[in-house]
Amino acid sequence: MNKSLPELERPEFSEQEAGLLLEENYGICCTLEELPGERDRNYLAQEHNGESYVLKISNSCETLEFLKVQNNALESAAMLLEKGRIPSVYPNKNGEPLSRVRSTNGSLHWLRLVPYVDGLSMAEYRPHTREFLLELGAMCGTVTKALHKIPLRTLDRRLLWEMHNVQDTLNEYLTWIKDKKLRNRVSRSLDLYKRTMEPLESKLRRGWIHNDFNDYNVLVLPKLAGTPDLGLIDFGDMTHSYLVAEPAVACAYAMLDKPDPLEAAVHLIRGFHQRFPLEEIELEILFPMILMRLCLSLTIGAFQQQNDPKNEYLGISQQHACELLERLHEVNPRFAYYLFRDACNMEAFPSLPEFSKWQKKVAGSFHFLLGEPLNTEKTTVLDLSAGSSFSAKSEGMSLEAQQEFLDTYLREKNAEIGVGKYLEARSFYAVDEFVNDSLGGHEKRTIHLGIDICVPAGTVIYAPIKGVVHQIQDNKSELDYGPTVILKHQPEDGPMFYTLYGHLSRECLKQLKTGQIVSGGTALAKIGDSNENGGWLPHVHFQIILDLFDYDGNYPGVALPSRKKVWCSICPDPGMMLGLGSESTAEEIDSGQLLNRRRNVFGQSLSLSYQEPLIIVRGQGQSLIDSKGQFYLDCVNNVAHVGHSHPDIAKAQSNQAYVLNTNTRYLNPVNIEYAERLCGLFPEPLNTCFLVCSGSEANELALRIAGTVNGQKDMIVLEEAYHGNTKANIDISPYKHNGPGGTGPPEWVHQIPMPYLYRGLYRDPATAGKLYADEVLKICEKLFGQGKKPAAFICESMLGCGGHVPLPDGFLKQSYQHVRQYGGLCIADEVQVGFGRAGKHFWSFELQDVVPDIVTLGKPIGNGHPLGAVITTQKIAKEFANGMEYFNTFGGNQVSCSVGMAVLDIMENEGLQQNALETGSWLKEKLEMLKNVFPLIGDVRGEGLFLGVELVLDPETREPAPLQADYLVERLKSRKILLSTEGPGHNVLKFKPPMVFNHSDAQHLLVELRQVLHESPMQKNLKA
Ligand SMILES: Cc1ncc(COP(=O)(O)O)c(C=O)c1O
Repeated sequence: MNKSLPELERPEFSEQEAGLLLEENYGICCTLEELPGERDRNYLAQEHNGESYVLKISNSCETLEFLKVQNNALESAAMLLEKGRIPSVYPNKNGEPLSRVRSTNGSLHWLRLVPYVDGLSMAEYRPHTREFLLELGAMCGTVTKALHKIPLRTLDRRLLWEMHNVQDTLNEYLTWIKDKKLRNRVSRSLDLYKRTMEPLESKLRRGWIHNDFNDYNVLVLPKLAGTPDLGLIDFGDMTHSYLVAEPAVACAYAMLDKPDPLEAAVHLIRGFHQRFPLEEIELEILFPMILMRLCLSLTIGAFQQQNDPKNEYLGISQQHACELLERLHEVNPRFAYYLFRDACNMEAFPSLPEFSKWQKKVAGSFHFLLGEPLNTEKTTVLDLSAGSSFSAKSEGMSLEAQQEFLDTYLREKNAEIGVGKYLEARSFYAVDEFVNDSLGGHEKRTIHLGIDICVPAGTVIYAPIKGVVHQIQDNKSELDYGPTVILKHQPEDGPMFYTLYGHLSRECLKQLKTGQIVSGGTALAKIGDSNENGGWLPHVHFQIILDLFDYDGNYPGVALPSRKKVWCSICPDPGMMLGLGSESTAEEIDSGQLLNRRRNVFGQSLSLSYQEPLIIVRGQGQSLIDSKGQFYLDCVNNVAHVGHSHPDIAKAQSNQAYVLNTNTRYLNPVNIEYAERLCGLFPEPLNTCFLVCSGSEANELALRIAGTVNGQKDMIVLEEAYHGNTKANIDISPYKHNGPGGTGPPEWVHQIPMPYLYRGLYRDPATAGKLYADEVLKICEKLFGQGKKPAAFICESMLGCGGHVPLPDGFLKQSYQHVRQYGGLCIADEVQVGFGRAGKHFWSFELQDVVPDIVTLGKPIGNGHPLGAVITTQKIAKEFANGMEYFNTFGGNQVSCSVGMAVLDIMENEGLQQNALETGSWLKEKLEMLKNVFPLIGDVRGEGLFLGVELVLDPETREPAPLQADYLVERLKSRKILLSTEGPGHNVLKFKPPMVFNHSDAQHLLVELRQVLHESPMQKNLKA
């Protein structure tokens, strides 16, 4: 059977002939380029004035009736769509939308001219974010809304792609698929479709649909902010069919090549439903219909390729379709149905209300799981959520220590039983099986679907209600359930359901048999110990299950946060069956409410990162963890120097807080030891220290010292410098006083241009250091001319807010010489870049081979604890002691000093300076390689783990690319990497992670960065 359908034979018109037709019928002269098409012959026609059109010569089988329907559809859809771009037909010279033309072989065709819809095909466009898919669904819904009401005309026309004929088409064409396994998949999908369709068919709504929302018909105009503009072309496959076939077709293509295809479908369907509400029965058939479209694509594709091997369009997406079909065979169709229901705001599990009603009715009759009630003083609810100190403290412990910790906790509460909550977001499910690759990067399963009852191993548990042993299995993997029993319950007056009991003792499995009836209240099993229960503290995980799907002996006990609503409909709250109240169900933090409270209580100048702020509840090493237990790689927090929430820091802080925390007016070894250790890290003569509470306070004090010592006020500062948030610091911070809301520098502050090799005044590395130092000299000379001296010259040892800019060679050395020659002091602000961050040296001023007179410290010094320091010489400190006492209530207190000491210990013990050097150098080298691939990257700079990546629209002009930088930051955030921008042009990606950031973190960052740099909005020099 090697036949070719007439409808697949495309009209025979050469480019030249088509050009003539265009002139004859529309009076325009264009250059033509053939476009892909399955049945029609299409040309892109471009006029010399830049106007572009598509000339469509229809297949000879196309009837006038059908083309009229199409034209009507184009107009109706264009009218209804607010944002979407749909081409409506241009009239010919006679004012008609259609012209009749004849090919050289005599066949007659209809000719149309439509505007060219600009954009990338959706197949080429990336990223397909959730918002993008929602928008796509919305456009699809709007088009269906516009088209479905067009009156039905009986057309003598049968298309291969019509869903109402899918069974016949597949049966007829299936043999063209040569791969046996694939053929088998198609047959099985068809069986599922037939079974599901049979009772529904007569009830499904019908109407005109576009019927070909494929990834080459959707055109996308990339944007750097907000969702991109979408367009839709090719109404040639319009048909009068099931309305639900429209989103089914769109889903089939939107799901291609996605990490989690169902996730893509869910967003599309949600968008569709918002514009054109779907009915329950339509959702029932939707998943099988998606399979059908894929099967059609594969079978027809196989057939067409035989007949027209040169037509590339036919082969497109075959491979992806094949892979998708394979993956969708692992999906339980009922699960997909529940997901789709949820996407359309329906209860995911349809009979949940029935179950809830029954449960309420019989609530009093459940037997006690432990043989005694749980709602007594003996029970206490545990907080095991991502942000709880209980989890954070116990996570790193051995099982024995964890048990001790739990026992102590229970004793303190006068309790014996600990209850772990339903729907709690927990961050401790650390195994790979719990990670799902999603449109938002890795998503971890964190939402607990059962209730945990923590009691000693060996405790007997009883069946709360009569049931049959349905499954018994020992789930032996680490952090799994261990021995597990699932009972099936069929109450006389309620729906069937299951209960799951995990982490039991192995011995009890032997005593149970599947099919065995267990009466309510009889002993079912015993609680297992840590050696057999998956490696947990002894407890039972109890869960209600309304649909077991195809799981056999194991069943998800923890869900993805993005599927929480669906799973809690399938696995409802077990609290009632256990006799527990609402306290055993975790409440989700409402981000909107939190945002409002923040807005109401904090001053408005306090900013929040990201378009959609993150709720961060915990830090751990180089990660921040959100309220849903998701981990974000923190690439910007140099304050959490030795890692977020380092346990040694927490211990040092807590231990000292038990003992003493007071000011420096008493003799005490703790602060002296710390000051000695800190000063010991500096070159002589920097050996004297003042302890303060922040970087701002350190700089404020440095200003006072300088002014007192040399009796001067004038300061020399760098353009774009930032030194702190106090009044005097704002005065010496051009970044602030020259920025929004600033009032410029006071007369005693003198600014030199930023020593910035990439973009600054002087760019030759051989001479820039000297030339920028000459700018310092000029100010000194000017002051001298006015009979003044500089009080001090203050400079960060690498520039932070200026855009992570390392100083040019020789700059500090020569500047210090000039300043000192004119009687000023030299202050190095190491608040951002001290403590080994530069890798090569402990202090970044050492990169410039200088010794300052005063060094100010902050941020990393206390790993987040408010601590700062001013380090200077004995001589200067003596001159500052002019009789006025220096007192600081909190500076130098023992708790802060213990924390500071712990930071230094950890740095040493964990070799963090060396890590900064190795990881930082490796990352910088790789970023430089990326620069060679992506012209958007103009400059890569920095030292150790203090790097800057400057984005530019054009490597020649170096025009900053702030929108691209923002896009990158937002996209990386959505992929769970935290970065931010810096620099006067807001176009520098700043990179200063906790010093525990390691090689695999760097690799991960590079993979994600590369991926985002490849995305469509980054490919063009978009300016708005
Ligand atoms: C270079 C520099 N100096 C001083 C400060 C002020 O430190 P703090 O915010 O701890 O007062 C900052 C803060 O960002 C800084 O970047």
